[in-house]
Amino acid sequence: MRIKRGNSICVFSSKGGVGKTFNTISLAGIFELLKKKVLIIDFDLYSGDVASYLNKSIKKDLFDISLDLDVRVVKDIKEYVTKFDEYIDILPAPIDPRMANKINANNISTIIDKAALSYDVVLIDTNHALNEISLSVLQTVDWILLLVKNDPLDIKNTRNLITLLDENEFRNYKVILNNSRDPFKRYFTLFDIKRIIRHNIDYTLSEELYLKEIEKYIMEGLIVTLDSKFSDYFFKDYKTYLTIATDILGGDRNE
Ligand SMILES: Nc1ncnc2c1ncn2[C@@H]1O[C@H](COP(=O)(O)OP(=O)(O)OP(=O)(O)O)[C@@H](O)[C@H]1O
Ligand SMILES: [Mg+2]
Repeated sequence: MRIKRGNSICVFSSKGGVGKTFNTISLAGIFELLKKKVLIIDFDLYSGDVASYLNKSIKKDLFDISLDLDVRVVKDIKEYVTKFDEYIDILPAPIDPRMANKINANNISTIIDKAALSYDVVLIDTNHALNEISLSVLQTVDWILLLVKNDPLDIKNTRNLITLLDENEFRNYKVILNNSRDPFKRYFTLFDIKRIIRHNIDYTLSEELYLKEIEKYIMEGLIVTLDSKFSDYFFKDYKTYLTIATDILGGDRNE
């Protein structure tokens, strides 16, 4: 019998501040609307902010599970997660950032694989640095969503990142142009961006998704896509998020 396994997705970018955390959390909300059980894992080990974004105080984190895995005492990943709501749980970055470099990179694939046995969707937030941790995450997940802004340095760095992914035969990444993060930057056309990164833009988040009141959501620990008005106010981006989610749920995974 084939064991049911969820999809794992890493939201990555070649630069910081491109919207990885916001979009990881927003996508978690979209999967909840699709009635999927979601685990958000915060592999931004030194500066992870998923739990504080969602106003959650935590008891256990990635350091605890990694430490227990070292002595093989992890039975159920759910003992380490923090509940957000009925559908979404969080496996947070270390509360104490000094513990971040004590996390054994060899445990990363085990953590993701265990998560995929208990959840329909495992969404991973990361730091943009290509270190042992993020490489291990990228090598393990079924899907990589690469966020890029309309910004010269980001576009150039993304080109380099795509070269690296291609050279290492990653076939499971999609590129998302995020126009919502810096909605006034429109220097490059879509044609320019595709030409520079030498890759298709698979999805575009529009400038309309720029939230003037994002602070309100963050202060209240709310997921914007779960706001009952989201699909009306941001119809275009709601549809884009739905397309990303259904493409992932319906696609062939990296096995
Ligand atoms: N659609 C949006 N509208 C308004 N502000 C946004 C939007 N998306 C992201 N931001 C804001 O931009 C900043 C960077 O976003 P975010 O933290 O998601 O990026 P990141 O790629 O995770 O950054 P880091 O590399 O530092 O982890 C945050 O202050 C966030 O609240
Ligand atoms: Mg972040």
